[in-house]
Amino acid sequence: MSVQTIPGYTYGTAEAARSPVSMEEFADLQKATMFTEEDVRYLRMAGEVLADQVEDILDLWYSWVGSQPHLVYYFSGPDGKPDMNYLQAVRRRFGQWILDTCNRPYDQDWLNYQQEIGLRHHRTKKNQTDGVRSVPHIPMRYLIAFIYPITSTIRPFLAKKGHSPEDVEKMHQAWTKSVIMQVALWCYPYTREGDW
Ligand code: HEM
Repeated sequence: MSVQTIPGYTYGTAEAARSPVSMEEFADLQKATMFTEEDVRYLRMAGEVLADQVEDILDLWYSWVGSQPHLVYYFSGPDGKPDMNYLQAVRRRFGQWILDTCNRPYDQDWLNYQQEIGLRHHRTKKNQTDGVRSVPHIPMRYLIAFIYPITSTIRPFLAKKGHSPEDVEKMHQAWTKSVIMQVALWCYPYTREGDW
C-alpha cells in the first residue's frame, strides 16, 4: 500500500500537528541521545534490512500486545473486546512508522509528525483518527516502558540479512537512539507547560 493511501497517515500534510519543539531544541535532544550522522547512515542500512520484514515485525509486536490484557485494553471498544478494525488501521501506520524511522530525514515534517503521534496516544487526539470509541488515553508510563520491547525485539530482524556483528550492533544502537528520542518528543502533550 502506498503512503498516500494509508488511512489517517497525515505525514507532511497541513493536517498534521505543528511541533512546539524548535529545531534548536531538537538538535540538543539529538546530542543528549548521542545521535549523530553515523546513526543516520545506519538507520538507512536498517531501512533496507527491515523493508521486507515489516509484516513479520508487526506480527510479533501485535501478538505480544494481544497477549497482555492490560495493553490490548487500549485498543478495546465499548464492549470491552479488542476493536479489530482499530487494531488493523493502526497496524498500517505502525508499519509505515518503521520505515519512516529508518528512511525519513529528521526535518520539520518529521518533528511535526512526532507531535501528531504523541497527541494520538494522549487524550487530546486518541481515537479521532480512526473514528473509534475506545479507551480515551494511554498512560505515559507505558510509552516509556515500551522502549524496551520496541528496541530489543528488533535486533534479530536486523541480524537476518547477513550483516557483520558490528553493523548489526550499530544499526541497533541507531534504532534505539531514535526510538528514545521519539518517545521523548511524544511525551510533550503529557507534560505541563514549561516542564517538557
Ligand atoms: C498508535 C508506535 C506505545 C497503543 C501508534 C502509532 C505508532 C505507534 C507508530 C501510529 C501513529 C500514526 O497514527 O501514524 C508506538 C511506539 C510506542 C508506542 C513506538 C512506544 C515505544 C504504545 C503503548 C500503547 C500504544 C504503550 C498502549 C498499549 C497505541 C494505540 C494507537 C497507537 C491505541 C492508536 C492511537 C489513535 O487512536 O490514533 N503507536 N506506540 N502505543 N498506539 Fe502506540
